[in-house]
Amino acid sequence: MFLVRLVYVSTFSKDFQSQDIEAILNVSRENNLKKYVTGMLCFNRKYFLQCIEGTRQSVNETYNRIVTDPRHHNLIILDYKEIAVREFSDWSMGYIPESKLTNDININFGGTSIFSPYDMSGESAFMMMLALKSTVPAL
Ligand SMILES: Cc1cc2nc3c(=O)[nH]c(=O)nc-3n(C[C@H](O)[C@H](O)[C@H](O)COP(=O)(O)O)c2cc1C
Repeated sequence: MFLVRLVYVSTFSKDFQSQDIEAILNVSRENNLKKYVTGMLCFNRKYFLQCIEGTRQSVNETYNRIVTDPRHHNLIILDYKEIAVREFSDWSMGYIPESKLTNDININFGGTSIFSPYDMSGESAFMMMLALKSTVPAL
């Protein structure tokens, strides 16, 4: 069994309500803990950018559930690769809210001050989550 990391972007399907993201995080954390899936979820009330890591089987099973979820659409995989070690082992699903996606972060890892994950490379998206992980409480 070896490890993989998947990074994808998607678009939220409705107008933001805080209970929506809480519900997504609660079920994600519960399921991911059981399967040793770890990762980060960024959300700016419009787009999701998520990284999930774990065994190939558990990451694929998790993604196959996520992809059919009607709460988001237009999923695009930015990166999928075998990895030697996890980067987000402290988080069953860490959450990076809009307030952390500052102009400086967006300029450093994207082209402009606006968070536009569809325009990011998989590597930039991953590096952005890495840069922010120290600001995210372990969960
Ligand atoms: C943006 C987004 C991210 C999600 N991330 C995860 C995740 O990391 N793990 C997970 O199990 N479910 C995740 N989900 C929820 C799944 O789509 C699905 O609702 C859930 O896995 C079903 O779990 P259940 O069979 O226990 O009800 C996510 C959903 C959305 C919209």
